[in-house]
Amino acid sequence: MIRTAVLVSGGGTNLQAILDAAKAGALPHAEIALVVSSNAKAYALTRAEKAGIARAVLAKSSDETPEAYGQRLIALLREHDIQLVALAGFLTILPENVIRAFDHRILNIHPSLIPSFCGKGFYGLRVHEAALARGVKLTGATVHFVNEIPDGGDIIAQQAVAVLPGDTPELLQRRVMEEAEWKLLPAALEQVASDLSV
Ligand code: GRF
Repeated sequence: MIRTAVLVSGGGTNLQAILDAAKAGALPHAEIALVVSSNAKAYALTRAEKAGIARAVLAKSSDETPEAYGQRLIALLREHDIQLVALAGFLTILPENVIRAFDHRILNIHPSLIPSFCGKGFYGLRVHEAALARGVKLTGATVHFVNEIPDGGDIIAQQAVAVLPGDTPELLQRRVMEEAEWKLLPAALEQVASDLSV
């Protein structure tokens, strides 16, 4: 079992999808060992508590360098023997030292079909607003490895989702989560954990 940490900042529906998949036996190679939140008030922490998973809050303070914050995060992950990291709505940019320490061991879920509507500034509802403004008929979600380029790492899995007449950013966001994100992230996590197990 690959000891896995999930990093969150908000509601944590993707974390919930991972926890549900684990409970259903769909993650035989990944043990969810730690949830780290950048925000003490994130509902994701309550989800972790209900599932009996170790929790930590680690926020970057304004007077801290990215490197110093990265060192604290690396130390926390090492303390828990973490081998694999999933970003599930984690809103802090990961410092380079963390990316280097966990090369090809950090996954992120992005709510579009990369390379569309991704990179700096494309997060949350903005992604779906941009997709609607461009008039695409298909959008979706992408799980990719994290490297130093925002949303630029190797793609692991993608799932397309239809844009429907009358969609608002909120409706589209919900459909992308239900039809793509909540299935794709647990499946990709299991795939990577399984690859790391051999
Ligand atoms: C999701 O849309 C995910 O794709 C993006 O952040 C959002 C997180 O939502 N990276 P939640 O906290 O998992 O509900």
